[in-house]
Amino acid sequence: MAKFLVQKSAPLRGEVKISGSKNAVLPIMAAALLTEEKCVIKDVPALRDVDVMCRLLESLGAKVEKDLDNNRVNIEASGEIVYEAPFDLVKMMRASILVLGALLIRTGRAIIHLPGGCAIGKRPVELHLKGLRALGVTIDEEQLNRGIVDASVEKLQGDTIYLDFPSVGATEVIIMTAALAEGTTILENAAQEPEIVDLANFLNKMGARIKGAGTDTIKIEGVQKLKGVSHHVIPDRIEAGTFMVGAVMTGGNVLIKNVLPNHLKAVIAKLRECGAYIEMTEDGMRVRGDMSTLRSTDIKTLPYPGFPTDMQSPFMALLTVAKGPSVVIETVFENRFMHVGEFNRMGANIKTDGNCAIIPGNKALTGAQVVATDLRAGAAVVLTGLVADGITEVSQIYHVDRGYENFVDKLKALGANIMRVDE
Ligand code: EPZ
Repeated sequence: MAKFLVQKSAPLRGEVKISGSKNAVLPIMAAALLTEEKCVIKDVPALRDVDVMCRLLESLGAKVEKDLDNNRVNIEASGEIVYEAPFDLVKMMRASILVLGALLIRTGRAIIHLPGGCAIGKRPVELHLKGLRALGVTIDEEQLNRGIVDASVEKLQGDTIYLDFPSVGATEVIIMTAALAEGTTILENAAQEPEIVDLANFLNKMGARIKGAGTDTIKIEGVQKLKGVSHHVIPDRIEAGTFMVGAVMTGGNVLIKNVLPNHLKAVIAKLRECGAYIEMTEDGMRVRGDMSTLRSTDIKTLPYPGFPTDMQSPFMALLTVAKGPSVVIETVFENRFMHVGEFNRMGANIKTDGNCAIIPGNKALTGAQVVATDLRAGAAVVLTGLVADGITEVSQIYHVDRGYENFVDKLKALGANIMRVDE
């Protein structure tokens, strides 16, 4: 299995170009199934999850031209669409659920075997299904009890839907389905993430009529047909946040290019509370840190625009070496502290109780053999490896490959002492 070997590094210096957003491109690729015409998607990050989504779309009958060397994917779903998603692909990427609406629209049927829980939580889909039922979809309850979503629909009819939790995936599935339903759908307590806005922009370019994306109430007026379009995916705010944290916690000075600061307000605010210098210039975002004055702060993860759960573990890496104690509360996923054990192997001495973690800070970390417990946690233990004495060996790095394009090369270009060892 491949591993990262990380050693204590000099402060990160130089510039890094952020890739397209994984969590924007996956729903957009699924939405390309909604038309028989060709969609050209640009700034696509070369990630494992993008590969899996390409394979999933091909297995469903779409023509996919993958040109990830040029960060481009063309999708043309002009032929017959198969309504059953193969489990061997779905189990590799739970975001496969995002094709649910498109399959119903194209074939009137959808069968998706749900993977079990993962490192960060059960990942239920009852909110996705609540929305689809409201639009006239029938879900086979027997099959659902066996972990299989077996959905069928005669005619999709708009309705008002309230989401008990602003689920990103449920919002995306409902928007895609309502876009081609009869009549109007109002989605209340919708997720407000920038990736929802990017999906809505893509669909509106295709001819959809979606208003309010990015707020908690989205209005979708159904249309008859959508056309193929070309689209640039937004930059990945979580990759950007990860490199910002790396710059600050190593006392570095990094220019982050291809970044939208509006998508990172909570992360910028928290890094400034820790003493970071962050300014937008015409070339990009300048981020500077000073380890001698790296202050601690408290974090509570929330749905957007609150502090993002995907930044919880990378930010905790910084808090392990900040001057003073911090409290981190994870409110989005029920089990997203798996990385705490890995930080503690390096000497972080973090205590957890339920969804609350107490980080004493002031630690001089030492390198250890650690595991990437999810894609963001994998990046987080690389960051602690940059400031720890000795060598940190990170295994299960396929998680990192899912969410960070050219992670090692980008870090090396900033002076990081890291290498990938393929055993
Ligand atoms: C998306 O996952 C992202 N993935 C996740 O990023 C991200 O952490 C998450 O949103 C929250 O921002 C993609 O976009 C591909 P949710 P998603 O539905 O859609 C509960 C990464 O690191 N919930 O908003 O699955 C759920 O259990 C990944 O790139 C229900 O209870 O997130 C969780 O606790 C990790 N019932 C919370 O909501 C439901 O029906 C957030 O889930 C649906 C969700």
